[in-house]
Amino acid sequence: MKTVAVIALKGGSGKTTVATHLALAAYRRGLAVLVVDIDPQHSALDALGARETPGPDVVASTGPKLVSAQFAASGLAKDLLIIDTPAGAVEDVGEALVLADLAVMVVRPTLLDIAGLVRTFTMVRKLGKPAVVVVNQAPVAREAVEAPLVKRALRGLEYMQAPLAPVILRARAVYQTALERGRSAEETPDRAAAAEIAALWDYIAAKAQITKAQPQEA
Ligand SMILES: Nc1ncnc2c1ncn2[C@@H]1O[C@H](COP(=O)(O)OP(=O)(O)O)[C@@H](O)[C@H]1O
Ligand SMILES: [Mg+2]
Repeated sequence: MKTVAVIALKGGSGKTTVATHLALAAYRRGLAVLVVDIDPQHSALDALGARETPGPDVVASTGPKLVSAQFAASGLAKDLLIIDTPAGAVEDVGEALVLADLAVMVVRPTLLDIAGLVRTFTMVRKLGKPAVVVVNQAPVAREAVEAPLVKRALRGLEYMQAPLAPVILRARAVYQTALERGRSAEETPDRAAAAEIAALWDYIAAKAQITKAQPQEA
């Protein structure tokens, strides 16, 4: 079982959107997934709980209880544990990071978000965790040319030597509307959003070496 922590010390960057979409992507590909939501706002729990069809398991927990949640998930033969974290809670994010095989940092392409990322990134580096940075809510590139805002953000991330994911998630209403009913953008007719999520999943799955557990011999 692999553990992925979705973090950003800044709020509203899209942690829950990314965490739930990765969980749904894994579920749709036949993996056994548990999402542990340690944000007291419980947005991941609410979103996945609103799902009308079977989906990833989700439980609410807290930073200090994460160890036992991880132990339980491994006992339940899960392939993947995804931790959705709160903003600002340095200790909780630290607990999640310690247990994670991969840290996924989510950042909007704004100077404030990039500045906020420095703190998150410092924590990740101190712990020596493999990490990726996902730029989220970027304006759609016009004829493959990024908006000046995005270009500046990408330059800032490059300067920080941030491990940038090769997939940028765009600002698309479908990410909001789909999650209202616990669905992934992959389960909507929006092919552009679906392609982004599929590409992000492929990248994260390869990076964290997430695979389906072999069935146990009797
Ligand atoms: N790529 C996106 N396109 C459009 N809206 C988004 C996108 N990502 C996140 N949002 C919206 O931004 C808000 C914050 O996202 P959320 O995932 O809850 O962030 P966090 O968990 O980091 O606080 C939510 O209303 C969410 O629907
Ligand atoms: Mg959240």
